[in-house]
Amino acid sequence: MKRFSVLIPAVVMVGGCGTVQSALAGDGADGANFASLFAIFLAVCTLMYLLVMGGLAMALWRRRSAEQELTVEGERHAAEPPGAIRLLAAWGILILAGLVALTVASFFTDRSNARAAEHPGLSIHVTGNQWWWDVQYDGATPSQGFRTANEIHIPVGIPVEVVLRSNDVIHSLWIPNLAGKQDLIPGRDTDLQLRARRAGHYRGECAEFCGVQHAHMALDVIAQSPADFRRWAAAQVQDAAPPAGDAERAGYALFVGAQCASCHAIGGSPAGATVGPDLTHLASRPTIAAGTLPMTPANLKRWIADPQGVKPGTNMPRIRMTELQLEALTAYLKGLR
Ligand code: CUA
Repeated sequence: MKRFSVLIPAVVMVGGCGTVQSALAGDGADGANFASLFAIFLAVCTLMYLLVMGGLAMALWRRRSAEQELTVEGERHAAEPPGAIRLLAAWGILILAGLVALTVASFFTDRSNARAAEHPGLSIHVTGNQWWWDVQYDGATPSQGFRTANEIHIPVGIPVEVVLRSNDVIHSLWIPNLAGKQDLIPGRDTDLQLRARRAGHYRGECAEFCGVQHAHMALDVIAQSPADFRRWAAAQVQDAAPPAGDAERAGYALFVGAQCASCHAIGGSPAGATVGPDLTHLASRPTIAAGTLPMTPANLKRWIADPQGVKPGTNMPRIRMTELQLEALTAYLKGLR
């Protein structure tokens, strides 16, 4: 059992080193700066720790040999060891040098991150909701802007300014591979810079306890080449494709006629509510329910059939439907690419 109690934290720590969610991966410029700063802190602190432990071991060893002589020759024990003052001065200088090194490293990390934040090449708005992320891209004109949910796409190498807001309580956006955390505070704008150094699929999380489904408030972050990003953005601006077959048409009628349309929007349909996530290109996203389930037709059906079973406490209500209606609605939604 004792061996297990040592293993559990080790397993948890190693589990945190995954590639999609790792603060030490350095896939973003800010994240890489923080990873370097962490390495410097670790090196300085390890050196000091080893010196202190070495000193302690030496003191214990000296004490033992002095004890043997204590009864015979008490006077020798009280005498100051040679070079003690010099050793103490060197120790003081070492501590000072270590603290100065850490301060200078922190200062330059901060400067480097702040300088890059001055000239963003793209600006997006992310709004926190219990428990999902609304993401808005402003185009050059309003018709070129679009909304998505629980996913952020960014072009590699271009600094992206993320303006953060909250619709309810305090959330915190954290994409460990790319940057540090930033709180989303109701009634106040905050911002965060993302600068991806390489293309990849990363995972972001809400890092501030915000209610029962705080743990299911994740988002997919896709860093891609500027050309791929432009292609993705051009597809997102488009309205949803009209329903193709009979099942899809029945699903569409159900969506705009039932309660679905009172919370969600689908571009090109009469549904335009902004209470819940925009579903215009729902099926092109990697996950559903804010990173809770992978995007598959079976999971989509499961989520619609029983939202409270998948994510207890979610604001998405369960709507009574026959199996046939459920199939039709799923068929329509899975076509929203
Ligand atoms: Cu939002 Cu925790």
